[in-house]
Amino acid sequence: MSVSQSLFIRNGRIVDPSQKLDQVTDLWVRNGKIEAVGKNFSLPSEVHVQEIDATGLIVTPGWIDIHTHLREPGGTHKETIETGSRAAAAGGFTSIACMANTQPVNDSSYITTYIKQRVAAESPVNVFPIGAVTKGLKGEELAEIGSMREAGIVAISDDGKTVMNAYLFRKALDYSRRFDLVVISHAEDLNLKGLGVMNEGYHSARFGLRGIPKAAEEVIIARDIYLAELTGARLHIAHVSTAGSVALIREAKRRGLQVTAEVTPHHLTLTDEAVGSYDTNTKVAPPLREMEDIEALQEAVADGIIDALASDHAPHSREDKEVEYDQAEFGMVGLETAFPLYYSKVLKNHWDLSKLVAAMTIQPAKIIGVKKGTLSPGSDADISIFDPKKTWTVDKNQFRSKSQNTPFHGWELQGKPIYTIVAGQVVYSEVKK
Ligand code: DOR
Repeated sequence: MSVSQSLFIRNGRIVDPSQKLDQVTDLWVRNGKIEAVGKNFSLPSEVHVQEIDATGLIVTPGWIDIHTHLREPGGTHKETIETGSRAAAAGGFTSIACMANTQPVNDSSYITTYIKQRVAAESPVNVFPIGAVTKGLKGEELAEIGSMREAGIVAISDDGKTVMNAYLFRKALDYSRRFDLVVISHAEDLNLKGLGVMNEGYHSARFGLRGIPKAAEEVIIARDIYLAELTGARLHIAHVSTAGSVALIREAKRRGLQVTAEVTPHHLTLTDEAVGSYDTNTKVAPPLREMEDIEALQEAVADGIIDALASDHAPHSREDKEVEYDQAEFGMVGLETAFPLYYSKVLKNHWDLSKLVAAMTIQPAKIIGVKKGTLSPGSDADISIFDPKKTWTVDKNQFRSKSQNTPFHGWELQGKPIYTIVAGQVVYSEVKK
């Protein structure tokens, strides 16, 4: 945006939990930054003022997804940095953090730099790379954490795999403190998981599929909380899926440890009963659980025990998914359905709007340590605007993502991103010019 450009967003309901703000008013953006919130600005004589009429719409700080899998490098038939970030923009996200399980793995400054270069060339949204904890995600030796930090990573994680060696995970936590990095734990004990493909319980027995016990997640979370205490490091638990995990995190927070957590749209809305369709798009790690878990997860967001909502956008090709349930890859896409799922399936009964917005803006920003998630004057003009009334039907054929592996195809949802604005530029709009 050149020095003389402004964006004026008029008459929207501005919800910004970072400033405890919820009011119908105006927002003025200048030179890619937030200039002011409120009525009666005296607009200087700008050469160009773009105006958005946000009457009836809700305007929030740009949404941040701290758990996205872009498959570049190595898996560009599933997703590229460009298609994944366009999917993010269409889903209302202005920032995403991408996981390290690419091919090659992001375990060196060389790969981090490559991702950043591709992002600068291709992405309409901010993309923050996450580096691996261990080389090649093999769980054997630490990755080049210091040099990746210099190259721009915001966190470390072996997501997709668990660091099973507790000694090595302790070393990673120790090391992370030196670089002020959060360590993101993918909590699944791989031995307990075994060849399991869904939640272990009544339905796995009924469907004749191998189960993954809830304890596979809980034992690793318990271990990692002890190690966070031992090291004083910052620990973030990815995709929490069980009521037992919530209890562990609640207790860790009560004890004042630096532990945060996230939950996905699918773990908030689907139970393991959905696996009965044998739709491989319901196969995800960790697996879909039970109603009592969903209830605990929803309540944990309301109570602030779970800090962030995160998509775990995991694109996979048809070849990976159109196979027997046992053989299919774990994962589903999420960026283009995340917010409407939260908004229409969870919010109404369980959360207030500022809770939802905080868990998508200021709270995830704090976890990865980026100066985002607020509309306070002087901050980056990353803004998400959605229509709370608009109902629509999920159509996977309309996705910007290269992959279509969603179990939500055909669902009627309410709430739709209308404008996504990054550094004052509209990068996605549903409004026909
Ligand atoms: O279901 C999943 N898929 N869970 C993960 O943690 C990894 C992801 C992937 O990369 O496909």
